[in-house]
Amino acid sequence: MCGITGYIGREEAIFVLLDSLKKLEYRGYDSTGIAILHEGTLTVRKAKGHITVLEEKLKNEQIRGQAGIGHTRWATHGEPSDINAHPHTGVSDRIAVVHNGIIENYLRLKEWLQAREVVFKSETDTEVVAHLIDYYYRQGSGLLTAVQHTLKRLEGSYALAITAADYPDRIIAARKDSPLVIGLGKDENLVASDIPALLAHTREVVYMEDGELVVLYRDHVELMNAQGDHIVRPPSHVDWDADAAEKGGFAHFMLKEIHDQAKALSDTLRPRIKTGEISFDEFDFDEFCGRARRIVITACGTAWHAAMVAKYAFEHFARIPVEVDIASEYRYRSPVTEENDLFIVISQSGETADTLAAMRLAKKGGNRILAITNVVGSTLAREADLVLFTMAGPEIAVASTKAFTTQLMCLYLLALKLGKLHSRIGDAEYRACIEDLGRIPSQAEKILARQDLIQRFASRQFNKQKVFFMGRQFDYAISLESALKLKEISYTHSEAFAAGELKHGPIALVDKDTLVVTIATQTVLFDKLISNIRETSARGASSLVISWEGETSFESVADEIFAIPKTRDCFSPLLSIIPAQLFAYYCSIQRGNNPDKPRNLAKSVTVE
Ligand code: M6R
Repeated sequence: MCGITGYIGREEAIFVLLDSLKKLEYRGYDSTGIAILHEGTLTVRKAKGHITVLEEKLKNEQIRGQAGIGHTRWATHGEPSDINAHPHTGVSDRIAVVHNGIIENYLRLKEWLQAREVVFKSETDTEVVAHLIDYYYRQGSGLLTAVQHTLKRLEGSYALAITAADYPDRIIAARKDSPLVIGLGKDENLVASDIPALLAHTREVVYMEDGELVVLYRDHVELMNAQGDHIVRPPSHVDWDADAAEKGGFAHFMLKEIHDQAKALSDTLRPRIKTGEISFDEFDFDEFCGRARRIVITACGTAWHAAMVAKYAFEHFARIPVEVDIASEYRYRSPVTEENDLFIVISQSGETADTLAAMRLAKKGGNRILAITNVVGSTLAREADLVLFTMAGPEIAVASTKAFTTQLMCLYLLALKLGKLHSRIGDAEYRACIEDLGRIPSQAEKILARQDLIQRFASRQFNKQKVFFMGRQFDYAISLESALKLKEISYTHSEAFAAGELKHGPIALVDKDTLVVTIATQTVLFDKLISNIRETSARGASSLVISWEGETSFESVADEIFAIPKTRDCFSPLLSIIPAQLFAYYCSIQRGNNPDKPRNLAKSVTVE
């Protein structure tokens, strides 16, 4: 997730763009850049790091011009660096492009361009867009036609803003599966990834739809569809304040990030599915993973819970033994490593001290390391042998939500692909699983659309002294994550149990002040769970069951049921965690806490 902005009007663009970019920093902050148009020249400046680094760089320069584009980056292809920062330019350096999204076919386009003697400067997917526009432009197309030809060749998602030295009176922008909003001002027009970047200039906005393109002039805008037909869309008036706008209209980053999940899951999945097959551009999967006779996974906190889900998934699909350990435990063990172990480390930030130490220990022991992280250029990403990036975009709230579900998506893809490689899963089943994963983002949307049910439930239960989560297998892993979410931000005493363990001790804690939340998606174990729920209700506990839509097994034992759309039992963690995240969020609100900044916790735990 990156932030893009464009301006054309009467003010000096450099100041407008820098201000807008500051409002978009929550979308990315590893590098920043601008391109300014002035009397037939295009000035591009960019820098790795926080926006202040770019400001410092520009301090002694006088870059004039009343039109330009800007970008704040969250790296997905290529580490954060001056070269990889946007804008990117074509061969002639007279066309500049900023981009948010992922160009899925960029490697093919790059080869096509290289065969035409185009030399690439960066490692980004975006640079192909700049070169393609430049290529068609050099072939004699006008700027608009060059952009239209280019868009037809792009697969994936994009919000683009484009400037050309030969066209100082306009900026072009286009969108597909990445947000873009036009701001209509007086004698000035803007475009940006999100409303906060526009509010200093206007509250009249036009939301662009997929496939649309806009040409912004100082005094008017021309919106058109993919066929080039002009569209007239009345503007909407924005009355959010700037703070709410930054959170996309949500009260907190955590709630926004819970809602980001449908898109983040799709962004993580889609580029890795090519003609019905799982394919990782990042590495030679067969070579790297094919030799694995055992998988060892280590992580901390929420990422460790993703590892717990992965254990069930790898064993289910690939029939390979999996060992999971908390990184702070692993690093002080004397782990027995085997030559053919595949060592997976999971970390949202890629900077967690214990996780890094565990990885270094495994490396020293001769293991090959595959990292799953959300941050390109993080220490983990740099030190691991191979990296699979989650495409969650920056996660601001301390409590991890979208990073977790996107980690799960990566792990499911690995497990399925390994199962296929070792012929542990048949072709038809494999393809059906991929199709089911493809439905997960829209199923997540359906859960999010019913968040008011969870909000009402939380308003009745937030005062409970104890909240226990229980489940079996995949549901046990999700119980652990649900309990962590709740304790982190609501400060309620919450624990998770493997449901079968209840009678071995924890049931002694159950009384009428206890809420027991049962995650119930493993159909073959429903009878066992029903008995477990009865045992807790008999001791006065109230119960919520999270289970499948249309499932009636729990009606006679649960006080309340929250239904999630049906997918395969083994994929349930991707969905069943969402109501639990919402429950934690609303309990936190009811208790008067700030869910984005829970007490005693930091987003990135870089010390032991
Ligand atoms: O950045 P990491 O994924 O390595 O962080 C690991 C944990 O510190 C993290 O998941 C923590 O548990 C979160 N606050 C959970 O919401």
